Amino acid sequence: MKIALDTLYKEATKTHGNDADKAITEQIKYLSKSYTQLSSNDREPVNYKDPATRFAYVYKYVASHGDYVVQVLEVLRQKLEGRIFKTDSIRVSCVGGGPGSDIIALLKYLDERKATEKVKKVTCYLLDREQAWADTWVELDDSLQTDLVLHANFQPLDVTKPESWAQQKKFLEADVFTMSYFVSEVMALDKDGVVTKFWEKLFKEAKPGAIFIYDDNGHDTFNRYFDKQWKAAKLNCLVEATNEDFWPRYNEQKSELGEFLKKFGQQPKLKTSLTYRVLQKP
Ligand SMILES: C[S@@+](CC[C@H](N)C(=O)[O-])C[C@H]1O[C@@H](n2cnc3c(N)ncnc32)[C@H](O)[C@@H]1O
Repeated sequence: MKIALDTLYKEATKTHGNDADKAITEQIKYLSKSYTQLSSNDREPVNYKDPATRFAYVYKYVASHGDYVVQVLEVLRQKLEGRIFKTDSIRVSCVGGGPGSDIIALLKYLDERKATEKVKKVTCYLLDREQAWADTWVELDDSLQTDLVLHANFQPLDVTKPESWAQQKKFLEADVFTMSYFVSEVMALDKDGVVTKFWEKLFKEAKPGAIFIYDDNGHDTFNRYFDKQWKAAKLNCLVEATNEDFWPRYNEQKSELGEFLKKFGQQPKLKTSLTYRVLQKP
Protein backbone atom coordinates (compact mmCIF):
# COMPACT_ATOMS: atom_id res chain seq x y z
CA MET A 1 0.00 0.00 0.00
CA LYS A 2 2.86 2.34 0.80
CA ILE A 3 4.23 1.94 -2.74
CA ALA A 4 0.81 2.73 -4.22
CA LEU A 5 0.49 5.79 -2.00
CA ASP A 6 3.96 7.04 -2.96
CA THR A 7 3.18 6.62 -6.67
CA LEU A 8 -0.19 8.34 -6.38
CA TYR A 9 1.27 11.16 -4.31
CA LYS A 10 3.84 11.83 -7.05
CA GLU A 11 1.05 11.88 -9.64
CA ALA A 12 -1.04 14.22 -7.49
CA THR A 13 1.94 16.54 -7.15
CA LYS A 14 2.41 16.53 -10.95
CA THR A 15 -1.22 17.51 -11.42
CA HIS A 16 -1.67 19.96 -8.52
CA GLY A 17 1.89 21.18 -7.84
CA ASN A 18 2.20 22.87 -4.44
CA ASP A 19 -1.54 22.48 -3.88
CA ALA A 20 -1.41 18.67 -3.87
CA ASP A 21 -1.94 18.34 -0.10
CA LYS A 22 -4.86 20.73 -0.23
CA ALA A 23 -6.38 18.83 -3.18
CA ILE A 24 -6.01 15.51 -1.32
CA THR A 25 -7.63 16.92 1.82
CA GLU A 26 -10.54 18.16 -0.32
CA GLN A 27 -10.86 14.80 -2.06
CA ILE A 28 -10.97 12.96 1.29
CA LYS A 29 -14.00 15.14 2.08
CA TYR A 30 -15.44 14.67 -1.43
CA LEU A 31 -15.34 10.88 -1.09
CA SER A 32 -16.89 10.73 2.35
CA LYS A 33 -19.69 13.07 1.21
CA SER A 34 -20.25 11.05 -1.99
CA TYR A 35 -20.53 7.81 0.00
CA THR A 36 -23.40 9.23 2.06
CA GLN A 37 -25.39 9.80 -1.16
CA LEU A 38 -24.95 6.40 -2.83
CA SER A 39 -28.61 5.42 -2.78
CA SER A 40 -29.76 8.68 -4.38
CA ASN A 41 -30.93 8.13 -7.96
CA ASP A 42 -29.99 11.56 -9.26
CA ARG A 43 -26.39 11.63 -8.02
CA GLU A 44 -23.36 11.81 -10.28
CA PRO A 45 -21.15 8.68 -10.32
CA VAL A 46 -18.17 9.03 -7.97
CA ASN A 47 -15.23 10.30 -10.03
CA TYR A 48 -11.80 8.77 -9.32
CA LYS A 49 -9.92 10.21 -12.28
CA ASP A 50 -7.90 12.82 -10.40
CA PRO A 51 -4.81 11.27 -8.75
CA ALA A 52 -5.62 13.29 -5.60
CA THR A 53 -8.94 11.43 -5.38
CA ARG A 54 -7.24 8.07 -5.92
CA PHE A 55 -4.65 8.88 -3.27
CA ALA A 56 -7.49 9.88 -0.91
CA TYR A 57 -9.28 6.58 -1.60
CA VAL A 58 -6.26 4.36 -1.04
CA TYR A 59 -5.28 6.33 2.07
CA LYS A 60 -8.69 6.30 3.65
CA TYR A 61 -10.39 3.07 2.57
CA VAL A 62 -8.09 0.37 1.16
CA ALA A 63 -6.70 -0.97 4.46
CA SER A 64 -10.08 -1.25 6.17
CA HIS A 65 -11.94 -2.62 3.15
CA GLY A 66 -9.19 -5.17 2.58
CA ASP A 67 -9.32 -6.16 6.21
CA TYR A 68 -13.09 -6.79 6.07
CA VAL A 69 -12.53 -9.17 3.15
CA VAL A 70 -9.87 -11.04 5.15
CA GLN A 71 -12.31 -11.33 8.06
CA VAL A 72 -15.02 -12.68 5.74
CA LEU A 73 -12.55 -15.25 4.34
CA GLU A 74 -11.80 -16.31 7.90
CA VAL A 75 -15.51 -16.83 8.59
CA LEU A 76 -15.75 -18.94 5.44
CA ARG A 77 -12.72 -20.96 6.47
CA GLN A 78 -14.33 -21.71 9.82
CA LYS A 79 -17.55 -22.76 8.17
CA LEU A 80 -15.69 -25.07 5.79
CA GLU A 81 -13.62 -26.37 8.71
CA GLY A 82 -10.43 -26.05 6.73
CA ARG A 83 -8.92 -24.59 3.65
CA ILE A 84 -11.00 -22.66 1.16
CA PHE A 85 -8.97 -23.37 -1.96
CA LYS A 86 -8.37 -26.86 -3.29
CA THR A 87 -5.82 -26.11 -6.03
CA ASP A 88 -2.37 -24.55 -6.07
CA SER A 89 -3.27 -22.04 -8.76
CA ILE A 90 -6.38 -19.85 -8.65
CA ARG A 91 -8.03 -17.19 -10.78
CA VAL A 92 -9.69 -14.23 -9.11
CA SER A 93 -11.85 -11.51 -10.67
CA CYS A 94 -12.27 -8.37 -8.59
CA VAL A 95 -15.32 -6.49 -9.84
CA GLY A 96 -14.83 -2.79 -9.07
CA GLY A 97 -11.43 -3.89 -7.78
CA GLY A 98 -9.32 -1.08 -9.27
CA PRO A 99 -8.17 0.36 -5.94
CA GLY A 100 -6.62 -3.01 -4.98
CA SER A 101 -8.31 -3.66 -1.61
CA ASP A 102 -9.77 -6.99 -2.73
CA ILE A 103 -6.59 -8.50 -4.16
CA ILE A 104 -4.47 -7.24 -1.25
CA ALA A 105 -6.95 -8.96 1.07
CA LEU A 106 -6.81 -12.26 -0.75
CA LEU A 107 -3.01 -12.24 -0.82
CA LYS A 108 -2.92 -11.38 2.86
CA TYR A 109 -5.27 -14.22 3.74
CA LEU A 110 -3.23 -16.69 1.65
CA ASP A 111 -0.05 -15.51 3.31
CA GLU A 112 -1.48 -15.69 6.85
CA ARG A 113 -2.86 -19.17 6.15
CA LYS A 114 -0.03 -20.54 4.05
CA ALA A 115 0.40 -23.54 6.34
CA THR A 116 -2.89 -24.97 5.10
CA GLU A 117 -3.84 -23.06 1.94
CA LYS A 118 -1.73 -24.54 -0.83
CA VAL A 119 -2.18 -21.76 -3.38
CA LYS A 120 1.13 -20.78 -5.02
CA LYS A 121 -0.08 -18.78 -7.97
CA VAL A 122 -2.85 -16.18 -8.28
CA THR A 123 -4.03 -14.83 -11.61
CA CYS A 124 -6.08 -11.78 -10.99
CA TYR A 125 -8.37 -9.64 -13.13
CA LEU A 126 -8.99 -6.18 -11.74
CA LEU A 127 -12.18 -5.04 -13.46
CA ASP A 128 -12.97 -1.38 -13.13
CA ARG A 129 -14.35 1.41 -15.23
CA GLU A 130 -11.63 3.80 -14.09
CA GLN A 131 -8.65 3.00 -16.26
CA ALA A 132 -6.46 5.29 -14.17
CA TRP A 133 -6.33 2.64 -11.44
CA ALA A 134 -4.40 0.35 -13.79
CA ASP A 135 -1.00 1.95 -13.28
CA THR A 136 -1.17 1.62 -9.52
CA TRP A 137 -1.43 -2.13 -9.27
CA VAL A 138 -0.26 -3.99 -12.34
CA GLU A 139 3.33 -4.00 -11.14
CA LEU A 140 2.26 -5.10 -7.68
CA ASP A 141 3.77 -8.55 -8.29
CA ASP A 142 7.28 -7.06 -8.29
CA SER A 143 6.85 -5.58 -4.82
CA LEU A 144 5.16 -8.52 -3.12
CA GLN A 145 6.68 -9.75 0.09
CA THR A 146 5.25 -13.25 -0.17
CA ASP A 147 6.26 -16.44 -1.98
CA LEU A 148 3.11 -16.25 -4.07
CA VAL A 149 3.32 -15.68 -7.78
CA LEU A 150 0.84 -13.01 -8.83
CA HIS A 151 -0.25 -12.19 -12.36
CA ALA A 152 -2.36 -9.04 -12.14
CA ASN A 153 -4.29 -7.90 -15.21
CA PHE A 154 -6.31 -4.71 -15.35
CA GLN A 155 -9.38 -4.85 -17.57
CA PRO A 156 -11.49 -1.77 -18.23
CA LEU A 157 -15.11 -2.71 -17.61
CA ASP A 158 -18.08 -0.48 -16.90
CA VAL A 159 -21.11 -2.40 -15.66
CA THR A 160 -23.42 0.33 -17.01
CA LYS A 161 -22.00 -0.11 -20.54
CA PRO A 162 -22.75 -3.57 -21.98
CA GLU A 163 -20.40 -2.90 -24.90
CA SER A 164 -17.53 -2.94 -22.36
CA TRP A 165 -18.39 -6.42 -21.01
CA ALA A 166 -20.51 -8.24 -23.57
CA GLN A 167 -17.47 -9.71 -25.33
CA GLN A 168 -15.18 -10.20 -22.32
CA LYS A 169 -14.92 -13.87 -21.38
CA LYS A 170 -11.69 -14.51 -19.50
CA PHE A 171 -12.74 -12.91 -16.22
CA LEU A 172 -15.74 -15.25 -16.10
CA GLU A 173 -13.43 -18.25 -15.70
CA ALA A 174 -12.50 -17.17 -12.16
CA ASP A 175 -12.62 -19.46 -9.14
CA VAL A 176 -13.40 -16.47 -6.94
CA PHE A 177 -15.18 -13.19 -7.65
CA THR A 178 -14.97 -10.32 -5.20
CA MET A 179 -17.42 -7.43 -4.93
CA SER A 180 -16.21 -5.27 -2.11
CA TYR A 181 -18.06 -2.00 -1.64
CA PHE A 182 -18.97 -2.15 -5.30
CA VAL A 183 -22.68 -2.97 -5.42
CA SER A 184 -23.58 0.11 -3.36
CA GLU A 185 -21.66 2.23 -5.83
CA VAL A 186 -23.57 1.04 -8.89
CA MET A 187 -27.02 0.18 -7.52
CA ALA A 188 -28.42 3.65 -8.20
CA LEU A 189 -27.10 3.44 -11.79
CA ASP A 190 -29.30 0.40 -12.47
CA LYS A 191 -32.24 2.56 -13.56
CA ASP A 192 -32.97 0.76 -16.82
CA GLY A 193 -31.85 -2.65 -15.57
CA VAL A 194 -28.48 -2.54 -17.32
CA VAL A 195 -26.53 -3.42 -14.16
CA THR A 196 -28.98 -6.25 -13.44
CA LYS A 197 -28.07 -7.62 -16.91
CA PHE A 198 -24.44 -7.62 -15.81
CA TRP A 199 -25.23 -9.63 -12.65
CA GLU A 200 -27.27 -12.05 -14.75
CA LYS A 201 -24.37 -12.61 -17.14
CA LEU A 202 -21.86 -12.93 -14.31
CA PHE A 203 -23.85 -15.51 -12.38
CA LYS A 204 -24.93 -17.42 -15.50
CA GLU A 205 -21.53 -17.64 -17.18
CA ALA A 206 -19.33 -18.23 -14.13
CA LYS A 207 -18.28 -21.84 -13.77
CA PRO A 208 -19.98 -24.28 -11.39
CA GLY A 209 -18.34 -24.12 -7.95
CA ALA A 210 -17.24 -20.50 -8.41
CA ILE A 211 -17.35 -18.46 -5.20
CA PHE A 212 -18.65 -14.87 -4.97
CA ILE A 213 -17.57 -12.71 -2.06
CA TYR A 214 -19.83 -9.73 -1.49
CA ASP A 215 -19.33 -7.23 1.29
CA ASP A 216 -20.68 -3.72 1.50
CA ASN A 217 -22.33 -1.00 3.57
CA GLY A 218 -24.85 -2.62 5.89
CA HIS A 219 -28.05 -0.94 4.69
CA ASP A 220 -31.33 -2.61 3.88
CA THR A 221 -31.60 -0.93 0.46
CA PHE A 222 -28.32 -2.43 -0.74
CA ASN A 223 -28.97 -5.77 1.00
CA ARG A 224 -32.39 -6.16 -0.65
CA TYR A 225 -31.06 -5.21 -4.06
CA PHE A 226 -28.15 -7.63 -3.99
CA ASP A 227 -30.09 -10.49 -2.38
CA LYS A 228 -32.63 -10.25 -5.20
CA GLN A 229 -29.85 -10.60 -7.80
CA TRP A 230 -28.16 -13.70 -6.43
CA LYS A 231 -31.37 -15.40 -5.39
CA ALA A 232 -32.68 -15.02 -8.97
CA ALA A 233 -29.54 -16.86 -10.12
CA LYS A 234 -30.13 -19.64 -7.55
CA LEU A 235 -26.69 -19.38 -5.97
CA ASN A 236 -26.07 -21.10 -2.64
CA CYS A 237 -25.21 -18.95 0.34
CA LEU A 238 -22.25 -20.37 2.31
CA VAL A 239 -21.93 -17.68 4.99
CA GLU A 240 -23.71 -14.42 5.60
CA ALA A 241 -24.17 -11.55 8.01
CA THR A 242 -26.53 -8.61 7.77
CA ASN A 243 -25.85 -5.12 9.10
CA GLU A 244 -23.30 -6.53 11.53
CA ASP A 245 -20.91 -4.37 13.56
CA PHE A 246 -17.37 -4.76 12.26
CA TRP A 247 -14.06 -3.26 13.30
CA PRO A 248 -10.97 -3.24 11.13
CA ARG A 249 -8.34 -5.45 12.78
CA TYR A 250 -5.30 -4.26 10.89
CA ASN A 251 -2.34 -3.10 12.89
CA GLU A 252 0.13 -2.22 10.18
CA GLN A 253 -1.48 1.13 9.55
CA LYS A 254 1.26 3.32 11.01
CA SER A 255 4.08 1.90 8.93
CA GLU A 256 1.97 1.68 5.77
CA LEU A 257 0.73 5.22 5.89
CA GLY A 258 4.17 6.50 6.90
CA GLU A 259 4.82 10.21 6.69
CA PHE A 260 1.36 10.82 5.20
CA LEU A 261 -0.16 10.39 8.64
CA LYS A 262 1.31 13.74 9.64
CA LYS A 263 -0.22 15.48 6.65
CA PHE A 264 -3.62 13.84 6.47
CA GLY A 265 -4.22 12.49 9.95
CA GLN A 266 -4.69 9.00 11.32
CA GLN A 267 -7.80 7.08 10.42
CA PRO A 268 -9.66 6.16 13.59
CA LYS A 269 -10.64 2.50 13.73
CA LEU A 270 -14.33 3.14 13.55
CA LYS A 271 -17.03 0.58 13.94
CA THR A 272 -18.88 -0.01 10.70
CA SER A 273 -22.08 -1.75 9.74
CA LEU A 274 -21.23 -4.46 7.25
CA THR A 275 -23.30 -6.90 5.24
CA TYR A 276 -21.59 -9.85 3.63
CA ARG A 277 -22.56 -12.91 1.65
CA VAL A 278 -20.31 -15.65 0.37
CA LEU A 279 -22.14 -17.40 -2.44
CA GLN A 280 -21.38 -20.42 -4.54
CA LYS A 281 -22.62 -21.43 -7.94
CA PRO A 282 -24.02 -24.98 -7.72
C1 LIG B 1 -15.96 2.17 -3.37
S1 LIG B 1 -14.82 1.64 -4.57
C2 LIG B 1 -14.55 -0.03 -4.01
C3 LIG B 1 -13.18 -0.46 -4.36
C4 LIG B 1 -12.67 -1.74 -3.71
N1 LIG B 1 -13.38 -2.90 -4.16
C5 LIG B 1 -12.70 -1.64 -2.20
O1 LIG B 1 -13.41 -2.39 -1.55
O2 LIG B 1 -11.98 -0.77 -1.67
C6 LIG B 1 -15.81 1.40 -6.00
C7 LIG B 1 -15.01 1.04 -7.27
O3 LIG B 1 -15.94 0.79 -8.31
C8 LIG B 1 -15.49 1.41 -9.51
N2 LIG B 1 -16.68 1.71 -10.31
C9 LIG B 1 -17.61 2.67 -10.09
N3 LIG B 1 -18.57 2.60 -11.02
C10 LIG B 1 -18.26 1.56 -11.83
C11 LIG B 1 -18.89 0.97 -12.97
N4 LIG B 1 -20.01 1.49 -13.47
N5 LIG B 1 -18.32 -0.11 -13.54
C12 LIG B 1 -17.15 -0.62 -13.04
N6 LIG B 1 -16.51 -0.09 -11.99
C13 LIG B 1 -17.05 0.98 -11.39
C14 LIG B 1 -14.74 2.64 -9.05
O4 LIG B 1 -13.81 3.09 -10.03
C15 LIG B 1 -14.08 2.13 -7.77
O5 LIG B 1 -12.84 1.58 -8.07
